[in-house]
Amino acid sequence: MNPPSVANGDSGEPEIGERIHFYGRRKGKPLKAGRKSLLETALPRLRIAFENISQSIDPACFFKKKPTSVRLEIGFGSGEHIAAQAAANPDVAFIGCEVFLNGVASLTRYVEERRITNLRIFDNDVRHLLPALKDNSLARVSLLFPDPWPKARHAKRRFVSPAMLDDLARVLVDGGELRIASDHPVYVEWTLLHAPRHPAFTWTAVGPEDWRIRPSDSVATRYEEKAIAAGRTPTFLNFVRKARGA
Ligand SMILES: C[S@@+](CC[C@H](N)C(=O)[O-])C[C@H]1O[C@@H](n2cnc3c(N)ncnc32)[C@H](O)[C@@H]1O
Repeated sequence: MNPPSVANGDSGEPEIGERIHFYGRRKGKPLKAGRKSLLETALPRLRIAFENISQSIDPACFFKKKPTSVRLEIGFGSGEHIAAQAAANPDVAFIGCEVFLNGVASLTRYVEERRITNLRIFDNDVRHLLPALKDNSLARVSLLFPDPWPKARHAKRRFVSPAMLDDLARVLVDGGELRIASDHPVYVEWTLLHAPRHPAFTWTAVGPEDWRIRPSDSVATRYEEKAIAAGRTPTFLNFVRKARGA
């Protein structure tokens, strides 16, 4: 099987060499003119593009200034969390992945308005990007309020899976963090069934406040706010990538 190939075609849209099925929404309400124009003018500068490279890209190479480390956010939604993280950590590089066009437009606006220079966007399915990244290349991966797919017959659509944990373990540095948040009991249970059991990950919680309270260095996402407004309780599950060979 050929490695995934993603490149900017003439249209400016990423082209996918290998088909991966995405079950969520790619578009929402029609974009206002300002957002559309940002997608045309600013996104091409921010967008990550690469071609036919398997497990060998150092994500630091996407940034002009050499970062101290690189963090990835999967499914950034409207982008408020990754934008705040990037603004607060100018020496760290951030890659945000999102398939939903309206979310990509929203993050592009944050980046432009706040003049953020340490953030790049992969406006596509992260499952095309992960296999292209080299081992030991990310210091943190955040997966915040992923689509829960709570019905048992949809369990295969959940982002967390043993195979995905293998991929994440490969790209994370020793001691790197995997942060997963969810407001859905089925997804929390599912994550706790798989991640602590994976040989590369340790769950860092020592007491209830560790999963009840959002890490102090981060802001609430839109989904977290919606969950709280609807009376649901978010759970924050933080894992550390064990040292290789330990
Ligand atoms: C429930 S929303 C949460 C958004 C945001 N993290 C928040 O907390 O507000 C999940 C997001 O993940 C995105 N997503 C799901 N699977 C993805 C994938 N494989 N690659 C990139 N984005 C993905 C969806 O498009 C959606 O915007």
